[in-house]
Amino acid sequence: MPGKAIIFDLDGVLTDTARYHYLAWKSIADELNIPFDKELNEQLKGVSRQKSLDIILQNAGLHLSNEQKTKLLEQKNRLYLQFIAKLGPNDLLPGIEQLLTTLKKQNIPMAVGSASKNARRVLDSLQITLFFDAIVDGHAVSRPKPHPEVFLMAARMLNIPPGHCIVVEDARAGILAAKRAGMKAIAVGPPEHFPEADATVPGTRWLTYDFLKTFL
Ligand code: BG6
Ligand code: MG
Repeated sequence: MPGKAIIFDLDGVLTDTARYHYLAWKSIADELNIPFDKELNEQLKGVSRQKSLDIILQNAGLHLSNEQKTKLLEQKNRLYLQFIAKLGPNDLLPGIEQLLTTLKKQNIPMAVGSASKNARRVLDSLQITLFFDAIVDGHAVSRPKPHPEVFLMAARMLNIPPGHCIVVEDARAGILAAKRAGMKAIAVGPPEHFPEADATVPGTRWLTYDFLKTFL
């Protein structure tokens, strides 16, 4: 794959932290006594913490003050940090360790493009930080997915043209961001969730080097 790069989303692609984001939001919604289910959660994937809360409140028709919202955002993050406190290398999703190792051996530049402000902490816990030549997280970008900023910034840091980048995502917002950046987009999940993806795999174990090679 000469001159090509792979940009990975983090939550739900490298590790199953998407589950913990869900559980933390579920606990907040239960406390507020408002509805929140897996279907609504799909809309939160790849979306910033702030925007996620807005979506949950809007869905329930609930208006809160900025002060109340700030408290809930802090509470959500505290819960999330409790969930990920014990995260370790065993929490990499199936096939990911082998994929990262093979890509590294092949000298393929790799980046992480995540909306999460906790991305570096999660990568460190998983002990995979050193695989990546660039990490763009929720602190670095001002315009969240589906805006292409996160992936364009990663491509710039890797010094690889966007057209030579492949993005791996589990969120529709992320697939849209990748396509808007002019990149190839591979989705992990049910194909009906990702009409804009160049390809969809049912799970991370299908993300092999041989499979990714076919998109270059
Ligand atoms: C994304 C997740 O990676 O990060 C979202 O898909 C999450 O669900 C977002 O809301 C922000 O994460 P954090 O860790 O900054 O709250
Ligand atoms: Mg994700």
